[in-house]
Amino acid sequence: MTKPIVIAVDGTAASGKGTLAKKLARHFGFAHLDSGSLYRLTALGVIRASGDPGNEADAVAAAGRIDPAQSDTPDIRQAPIAEAASVVAAIPAVRARLLEFQRNFAATPPGGAKGAVIDGRDIGTVVWPEATSKLFVDARPEARAHRRWLELKSLGQVVEEAAILADIRRRDARDSQRAVAPLKPAADAALLDTSNLDIDAAFAAALALVKARVEEALEARPRG
Ligand code: DC
Repeated sequence: MTKPIVIAVDGTAASGKGTLAKKLARHFGFAHLDSGSLYRLTALGVIRASGDPGNEADAVAAAGRIDPAQSDTPDIRQAPIAEAASVVAAIPAVRARLLEFQRNFAATPPGGAKGAVIDGRDIGTVVWPEATSKLFVDARPEARAHRRWLELKSLGQVVEEAAILADIRRRDARDSQRAVAPLKPAADAALLDTSNLDIDAAFAAALALVKARVEEALEARPRG
């Protein structure tokens, strides 16, 4: 079997990793998976079932019921769901439950795509350590909070920027300090700080970092 081509795009909340992952996928014609949406769908499932996101049994049951095809639903983009997602994501049994779907996606990207771009927190460290190319995307918390504020404003949601900054700091701390698969760059990840970059500049930088390895892997694939 040919080795799957996988670009792992890990990073902090609102660092721009999702947008970069989507653009990289489009550029190479690869399939894209936003792994955070799996944790968000799990959180939404717990809350809709009137469960407790911090309760292992509730969270694992919800993780087993998610439908990844629903990852476009705007319901999972609400702040309370982001917060609950960070809580369920700290439960090892939830992570174990969601691992197989992510690994299958990497091994056999949907639609017969030649490769996959997966964004998240632990793609390069746990989900697919042998990724072709790994990026770790970050930005100053203030820059991330401002972006999130602009994004929410464009959706007609009025939220204090200071409150968003506090949320981001709390999520960063929980995601980085958890015992299992904490948020941290893989030893072989290329670091990309997007604090002072607009999306086009960030994409150009990301592409420059991954291009050589991905093109080499594409070249090495048998034709046909
Ligand atoms: O990237 P995001 O904001 O949609 O992620 C939602 C939460 O899920 C976040 O708090 C961290 C968690 N997450 C994770 O633990 N591992 C991943 N691979 C992706 C997301």
